[in-house]
Amino acid sequence: MLNYWNSTWSLDEKQCPCDIHLCDYLEEKQFRNKTIFHFGTGNHHILGLRNAKSGLNNAVLGITASPDEYQAYIKLLIENPTLGATYKAYFGDIYQLDARLLPDLDFASLFHVGEYRTEHNDKYGALTDTQMIMLCASRLKPGGEILFYTGSFAYDKSFEAGAEMLRSQALVEAGEYKSLKIFRKKG
Ligand SMILES: C[S@@+](CC[C@H](N)C(=O)[O-])C[C@H]1O[C@@H](n2cnc3c(N)ncnc32)[C@H](O)[C@@H]1O
Repeated sequence: MLNYWNSTWSLDEKQCPCDIHLCDYLEEKQFRNKTIFHFGTGNHHILGLRNAKSGLNNAVLGITASPDEYQAYIKLLIENPTLGATYKAYFGDIYQLDARLLPDLDFASLFHVGEYRTEHNDKYGALTDTQMIMLCASRLKPGGEILFYTGSFAYDKSFEAGAEMLRSQALVEAGEYKSLKIFRKKG
């Protein structure tokens, strides 16, 4: 069986501010017309919604492994069709990501690395955390960024993957923004 998330997540800035901090980052730096891949939409879909409201015209592709969160997206889109112009969400396991289906990215927000990857994913040959991160890194444009969440309970996994990216010299550390750790592709 797919290692799906049989749960749902409402916006909770105190417990998990990462999506809000990503919205703040994009708005504060005025990133426009960018391509963003977002791991973990939540049932609130705040990134897609705030991006649409901001007028920054970034194209956001979100993934959720929660049937409930996906249903929330379907409802949002039916009630607000203009949202679909800049925000697409799909249901699936990020550890089955296929590089052939990912566009060239300006940002990949991988806030939940290591939180949900278990031996259940191994049963169907899914990617490991590091493989998934390196795949996203390979789809980044020069100057594109991978963002991790320093408040994740599995942040040590992101940290290890970050070290691996540095070793491969594909990306460099590019500081932090609020709770987010940034790695930037050279070039
Ligand atoms: C704790 S929620 C956080 C949601 C949102 N990023 C936030 O911070 O408010 C974790 C998110 O990861 C997603 N998720 C869990 N396992 C996943 C997987 N294997 N592939 C894709 N998304 C997954 C869930 O669907 C959910 O949206």
